[in-house]
Amino acid sequence: MLEVLVLVSGGGTNLQAVIDAVESGTVTNTRITGVISNNKNAYALERAKKHGIASRCISPKEFASREEFNEKFIEAVDAWKPDLIVLAGFLVVIPPAMIEKYRNRIINIHPSLIPSFCGTGFYGLKVHEAALARGVKVVGATVHFVDEGTDTGPIILQKAVEVEPGDTPAVLQKRVMEQAEWKILPQAIDLIANGKVSVQDGKAVICL
Ligand code: GAR
Repeated sequence: MLEVLVLVSGGGTNLQAVIDAVESGTVTNTRITGVISNNKNAYALERAKKHGIASRCISPKEFASREEFNEKFIEAVDAWKPDLIVLAGFLVVIPPAMIEKYRNRIINIHPSLIPSFCGTGFYGLKVHEAALARGVKVVGATVHFVDEGTDTGPIILQKAVEVEPGDTPAVLQKRVMEQAEWKILPQAIDLIANGKVSVQDGKAVICL
């Protein structure tokens, strides 16, 4: 059974998609054992509570330095002994020591087709604003393993979504979530839980 710890910062719709997929049996061999938020007001924490999932909040704001936060944050994560850590809209930079410790055991959902519209400064609505400003006709989402770069780790799954005339960033964001994020994040977890993903030569390989 894959024990999953989900890290969140906001609304938690991706967390909800994973919870629903585990509860309905679409994702197998998986248990969500905990949720950590850096934001005590994140609605994601309510979602965890409603489904009986243990949660805690730990924020860089509570610490005198980033080093101190990083140390306590890793301790908090370690306490769960997770097999897989899922970044579901988690907006805090992951400490390098944690990436090293959990190599190929941390995945992230990003709301674009990497390598487009990703990297530092591209998160949430900003990604969709940039895509519309560039006038691309196809956008999408990516699930990838987390490495030391920003959105540079091995790509596990991607799904494309069409831009439609009159789209606003918020409308496009919702379509990307509905048509791509909420599907490929649970799907990636299911693949990992069932031993179907490996990393070879820096690339994720799926064996069905
Ligand atoms: C999602 O769109 C996710 O892809 C994005 O934040 C949103 C969180 O929504 N993540 C990033 O931009 C990471 N670079 P949610 O809290 O409703 O799941």
